[in-house]
Amino acid sequence: MKIGHEELTGYLERLQKPRPEEIMKLEAYAEAHGVPIMEPTGIEALLQLLSLKNPKKILEIGTAIGYSAIRMALKLPEAEIFTIERDENRYHEAIQNIQSFQLENRIHVFFGDALEASAAVQSMAPYDALFIDAAKGQYQKFFSLYEQMLADDGIIFTDNVLFKGLVAGDHSQIESKRIKKLVSKIDDYNHWLMEHPDYETTILPVGDGLAVSKKEVKRI
Ligand SMILES: C[S@@+](CC[C@H](N)C(=O)[O-])C[C@H]1O[C@@H](n2cnc3c(N)ncnc32)[C@H](O)[C@@H]1O
Repeated sequence: MKIGHEELTGYLERLQKPRPEEIMKLEAYAEAHGVPIMEPTGIEALLQLLSLKNPKKILEIGTAIGYSAIRMALKLPEAEIFTIERDENRYHEAIQNIQSFQLENRIHVFFGDALEASAAVQSMAPYDALFIDAAKGQYQKFFSLYEQMLADDGIIFTDNVLFKGLVAGDHSQIESKRIKKLVSKIDDYNHWLMEHPDYETTILPVGDGLAVSKKEVKRI
């Protein structure tokens, strides 16, 4: 008997505890308005790994409407979250949502393009954890730019590295040129990440694929 990935994901989602009503409202809003937030099994895995690490400062690239930042702040009551969003409407929506959860003291949203590290973001370094969840074609740039701000024992999470499973299939079968290019970029990123000399990476097939990269502590 062969069980497909979708059936497994459905099973895992059904096993999950129900989220608080306000969180489910955010999820429903994202679904209704086409806002790409983390998938249920992806966010649960991220939160579990974060709680094992217990980071005090987290930097997120790609806020959208604040869903994952809010989930991280609720899971880790001692953590401060710094998050960057370049879309003005989403930035304002994120601020509103964060206020409605009364988390504005612990979630700081920066408006701007994360391809340029702002002085404000740099000034809060080092970060104990980095979560990359923005433009998929730019992952390597985000990683290289922000890993410089990571604490020595820091950890980097990257979402969507399996991109609906497309990275694992025959890329030549993908009809859309844009998607094909994106798949190829993500695939390149995965290879680059797995071979990175300073990081130990594991890719978890949860949600849309979550890469977990642990900085190697250099011993003399
Ligand atoms: C997948 S969504 C983030 C979802 C969010 N992390 C969550 O799970 O709730 C990606 C977001 O990254 C933003 N984004 C993409 N490229 C960016 C960049 N270069 N700088 C800042 N934000 C960016 C997009 O506008 C979008 O809102």
